[in-house]
Amino acid sequence: MYHVKTLNKISPVGLAVLDPAKYTISDECETPDAILLRSAKMHDYAFNPELLCIGRAGAGVNNIPLDRCSEAGIVVFNTPGANARAVMELVLCGMLMASRDVPGGMNWLQTIADDPEVAAKVEKGKSQFVGPEILGKTLGVIGMGAIGYQVANAAVALGMTVYGYDPHIKAEFAEKLSPEVQMIDNLDEIYSRSDYLSLHAPVNDKTRGMINEAVIAKMKDGARIINMARAELVADDDLLAALKRGKIARYVTDFPNSKTVAAEGVIAIPHLGASTPESEDNCALMAAEQTRAYLEHGNIKNSVNMPGAYLAPGSKVRLTVLYRKAEDIPALVAELGIQVAASVTESRGDYAYSIFDLAAPADAAQVEQIRGVEGVLRVRVIG
Ligand code: MLT
Repeated sequence: MYHVKTLNKISPVGLAVLDPAKYTISDECETPDAILLRSAKMHDYAFNPELLCIGRAGAGVNNIPLDRCSEAGIVVFNTPGANARAVMELVLCGMLMASRDVPGGMNWLQTIADDPEVAAKVEKGKSQFVGPEILGKTLGVIGMGAIGYQVANAAVALGMTVYGYDPHIKAEFAEKLSPEVQMIDNLDEIYSRSDYLSLHAPVNDKTRGMINEAVIAKMKDGARIINMARAELVADDDLLAALKRGKIARYVTDFPNSKTVAAEGVIAIPHLGASTPESEDNCALMAAEQTRAYLEHGNIKNSVNMPGAYLAPGSKVRLTVLYRKAEDIPALVAELGIQVAASVTESRGDYAYSIFDLAAPADAAQVEQIRGVEGVLRVRVIG
């Protein structure tokens, strides 16, 4: 029996792939083999020794202490692309709300809702909420991953001129990109050309605070910034000062905080990027399938901290070893005389992972010998 703990509400469509005959699922389990979550913060979470993997139903993993997971041999998965359509749609919504002041107009309407002259007042007062069309405007998209390329294509379809930036764009997204999207490898050019700027980068040491005073100075006067990626990409104080002096016309963020939530010129959305039933189902399904594949077969797909590895289920007993790359576990397995029918070894950064399908069960002493190697993080015998 595998025990799965959920730290957030996970769509039943995903949980349904975990056969109740093999899995317990609860939000209270103290010794889970796997954790499924959305955006719950895990930085202070104390890992139990049985914990094998964490499935993040979503793209961003800044809520998970990846280094600590790697050290403990815990595989972390995310679900790239599963909510891309939902986020892309919210970016379009954000660009439109940053154009005509729809949220401002709606708030104003509530203040005159009881006025018997409301219809006449609407016609008199509406000019304060006027704003441009997006047709013919320029959009800069920073980060052309699963979401960014869809935003770029949709904006082209809506008649915008689109500039994309991504020095590491994956072939799968480059292939699907509209030929009308102009890729530019100089960020400064993107900043200076964009009427609208949409951020699609992960948070890391290079991107934290990337939209700051120096960058804002390079942007067009009256530019609009859409941030459906992560709050930390933007230096809030610099952005708020730029809004105040009118350099930036609007900042749309799906990640409001106490500084930005009520600030003039900010359109704050309560992290709705992935909040569609379709995307919640897609993310949960992908996270649960990846968790099941790892727990039941040792196969790793879409891990953000460990190598991907796949071995088609073959013999009855499978030995898997997660270890520091400096060790040579396939050589040790051969030296120990363990009979292997098929195997795969993959590495990523400092870590490596081997799956061995055994022709005959390994004895407990052999497994303990592998477990005793200094750089070995996790040994499992499945089957
Ligand atoms: C993501 O990282 O996938 C989105 O921000 C949505 C979410 O956190 O669930």
